[in-house]
Amino acid sequence: TGPVTLAVIPGDGIGQEVTAEALKVLEVASPAGVTFEQTRYDLGAERYLATGEVLPDTVLGEIREHDAILLGAVGGKPNDPNLPPGILERGLLLRLRFELDHYVNLRPSRIFPGVTSPLSRDVLGDDEVDFVVVREGTEGPYTGNGGALRVGTPAEVATEVSVNTAYGVERVVRDAFARAEKRPRKKLTLVHKTNVLVHAGAVWWRLTQQVAAEHPDVTVDYMHIDAAMIHMTTNPQRFDVIVTDNLFGDIITDLAGAISGGIGLAASGNINPDRTAPSMFEPVHGSAPDIAGQQIADPTAAILSTALLLDHLGHPEAAARIEDAVLADLAERGTARRRTPEVGDAVAKRVAG
Ligand code: NAD
Ligand code: IPM
Ligand code: MN
Repeated sequence: TGPVTLAVIPGDGIGQEVTAEALKVLEVASPAGVTFEQTRYDLGAERYLATGEVLPDTVLGEIREHDAILLGAVGGKPNDPNLPPGILERGLLLRLRFELDHYVNLRPSRIFPGVTSPLSRDVLGDDEVDFVVVREGTEGPYTGNGGALRVGTPAEVATEVSVNTAYGVERVVRDAFARAEKRPRKKLTLVHKTNVLVHAGAVWWRLTQQVAAEHPDVTVDYMHIDAAMIHMTTNPQRFDVIVTDNLFGDIITDLAGAISGGIGLAASGNINPDRTAPSMFEPVHGSAPDIAGQQIADPTAAILSTALLLDHLGHPEAAARIEDAVLADLAERGTARRRTPEVGDAVAKRVAG
């Protein structure tokens, strides 16, 4: 077996800064005998503004040949007249998720020891907060199915149609049940809005019940998205595995990041469970133009994303080394503010032992 090939897309803003730290850690965490061969792809705002290119087909073709992808974040400066909204988000990030069939967008949330949650101790109690959101990654309102009529007139009509196929829903629900099955509490919560989005809701509801019948040991419940937000801020301990659609999952996981100590800690994997294309690992957060260029972003989410990457590639021991190092680092630093490279150096040093 040759080297593990890794496509690295640092992207924009703090994406560049946190990816550098993630790579530092990955370097020292590599399991014995495993070498990583990185190819860096300079995609993002700068490339688009200079050349008009977002993700050329040839580049996508090259990326597809790698074993995994590490991504920082994409998104240029807000309100740049030369950068229409969505160009990079849709053309780069979502295109990768769709083309590489990343139907499981895996977003774990835990309050790590030593980390301060904005939720008070009274709310949190003694039970651990440790849940994972299985966000559908290829459908829902993200498909770009919609359009606008009579743009700019008082009679303008804009639609964004949510696509929910039985195929797409069943496969992500199955994945979520399989994950619930492996966790100690074996609990799965479907989050949707079946009381209003009745067509899509019916598909999610029916397929969840159907797959549930094959997993009698998994406890299943259902919550509307609005009520789920109440529970996430008043009793997040109750969640174990949450399965939900693409847009609800996007929103839930920023809140989940915030309640578990900050968006700078939230890692994610865009997983292709069938392994027909490389999976992609990235922090949940974006390019944070408000703090970009200052080296003050927390690279922990990017670092933890490399642990998810190693785990996916079949190196759970190396993944655990990174996670343990991050845990020890967080336990020691608490919520102290440090510069981006300081965090990367500290974690890398711990991983190296
Ligand atoms: P954002 O996640 O970039 O930032 C939200 C807030 O969180 C900001 O105040 C930011 O400073 C803070 N923050 C984010 N990451 C942090 C970190 N690691 N350490 C400390 N603070 C951190 O979301 P936004 O401002 O809504 O979006 C900015 C751009 O990023 C937009 O163009 C958006 O489309 C894009 N975006 C990309 C991704 C991605 O590439 N996966 C994800 C989200 C947003
Ligand atoms: C995320 C981001 C993306 C999403 C955007 C930038 C397309 O917010 O990864 O959470 O909505 O999925
Ligand atoms: Mn998001």
